[in-house]
Amino acid sequence: MLRSHTCGELSLANQGVEVTLCGWVQKSRDLGGLTFIDLRDRYGLTQLAFNMDVNADLCTSARKLGREYVIKATGVVKERESKNAKIPTGEIEIIVSSFEVLNEAITPPFTIEEQTDGGDDLRMKYRYLDLRRSNVRANLELRHRMAIETRNYLDAQRFLEVETPVLIKSTPEGARDFVVPSRMNQGQFYALPQSPQTFKQLLMVAGFDRYYQIVKCFRDEDLRADRQPEFTQIDCEMSFIEREDILQTFEGLVQHLFKKVKGVEIGTLPRMSYADAMKYYGCDKPDTRFDMKFVELNDVVKGREFKVFDDAELVVGINAKGCAEYTRKQLDELTDFVKKPQIGATGLVYARVNNDGTIKSSVDKFYDAEALQQWASTMGAVAGDLILILAGAANKTRKAMNELRLEMGTRLGLRDKNSFSCLWVVDFPLLEYNEEVNRYFAMHHPFTSPLPDDMPLLDSDPGQVRANAYDMVINGVEVGGGSIRIYNKALQAQMFSLLGFTKEEAQEQFGFLMNAFEFGAPPHGGIAFGFDRLCSLFGGSESIRDFIAFPKNNSGRDVMIDAPSAIHDEQLKELGIRI
Ligand code: AMO
Repeated sequence: MLRSHTCGELSLANQGVEVTLCGWVQKSRDLGGLTFIDLRDRYGLTQLAFNMDVNADLCTSARKLGREYVIKATGVVKERESKNAKIPTGEIEIIVSSFEVLNEAITPPFTIEEQTDGGDDLRMKYRYLDLRRSNVRANLELRHRMAIETRNYLDAQRFLEVETPVLIKSTPEGARDFVVPSRMNQGQFYALPQSPQTFKQLLMVAGFDRYYQIVKCFRDEDLRADRQPEFTQIDCEMSFIEREDILQTFEGLVQHLFKKVKGVEIGTLPRMSYADAMKYYGCDKPDTRFDMKFVELNDVVKGREFKVFDDAELVVGINAKGCAEYTRKQLDELTDFVKKPQIGATGLVYARVNNDGTIKSSVDKFYDAEALQQWASTMGAVAGDLILILAGAANKTRKAMNELRLEMGTRLGLRDKNSFSCLWVVDFPLLEYNEEVNRYFAMHHPFTSPLPDDMPLLDSDPGQVRANAYDMVINGVEVGGGSIRIYNKALQAQMFSLLGFTKEEAQEQFGFLMNAFEFGAPPHGGIAFGFDRLCSLFGGSESIRDFIAFPKNNSGRDVMIDAPSAIHDEQLKELGIRI
């Protein structure tokens, strides 16, 4: 080893010891006769000290060291005169007796410190320099810890980690596939897996019983802060279980991770039906760190000749506690917010409950004091509260109110990234009807079993069938989702038929799975967690990119290696893509 210690471990306990450190020159300071260098490695920073009076040559050479030079320095550990309480090694410095430049460095394009002056594009282009920054490194250390603790927990529960293939078959359900041409089978393509779903089910048929894999998945979809084209799942499947067993086992995983990685006890996870999530929060991944539930007001507000409410399919309100004193400007801002095209509301009605108990609304013309008191009592609003109301088509209005609720939560500081609110959302609809193509789509995926109680509706009213599916939601983020699976060939065939597949298409696409079900498939179910999302939540960031070593940008590009990129005609010819 070139070094005796790392730059993060020395303290007063090592006083007088001769050590050799290796690392990068983070910063150097010349104070007349003294020169100080902060030496950085993965473990931290250590101050190197050079004294002109003691060794002028050495000190002069040290002054020539540029930022990010890689050096090896030997010296004795000494107590510092002016200590730095902010870093673990802040009580000591190394009185350097010799050093060697292992490699020089040109000036980096941005400062490699916690707060950098580098913009996003620049940092991504030089990601290896960005990764030298301690906070970025800490994110990947957190990711490592999460992976280790995931494996510890699942191993203790007798799950087997099995690798599934990356070159698989393209299927029409789900997001778009990334495809890979085949030289040996020209004109044919592999697809990269959107998830190992069918393989993990086949492992259950094979009798593996409890499977998991921390696995890369690929989806060609539009990107957002919490979506990458290649991302990682903690993918799991179990046999001989019911939904309750899955919920308990994976609630246990998340409790374990919170305890081991963050030292937080999250307790038992509440459960909410999809129907309630939509009714009270207007979305299937409610942020339950704060209350502000929707209250439906149709019965209270209609029939007063206020056309907007009378014509609306849904009139729904939230109670912003303590916001009665919002200024005209603040209310205008909220109105502008809900009218943004991506939110789509036509307007916002409000009512303030004043300190003297009187209520002032933006639609006083239609509602007298008594009517407004009824609004307040239905909303549970008291003096000092502000009622915000939207009206219109039900789904659209719920969606807009969800955005307004989140906006209010943010404005009121109710969405603290260090507090965690986890829940299960259960009983999703099995199918979603798409008007454009006139057919049903599976809301989770086509392998999801209907809830046993709803089985009879499959023929008569498929749109009403609920799925035996569940999502785990933390702070308004869908961190995982799964279901109890169909394990019977006839039911699986019926499902494909509901999804508009002909018998032949179903056999061609998924025959391998349906055939396997004829060879003794056990009852099974599973879940997959978005590992990047879990890491970013634990790390207190909204962007999963911060927790991926080499992420893609929002156009799906890796700007460091410049991918995707064109390939040579020769290569295309060989693949049979262009002659
Ligand atoms: P699903 O499609 O819900 O289920 O994915 C599981 C979890 O993966 C995460 N996720 C993503 N994370 C980052 N970038 C993306 N593009 C992305 N897409 C999804 C989410 C999501 O909850 N095979 C099923 C699971 C099962 O049924 O067992 C599946 O893939 O956190």
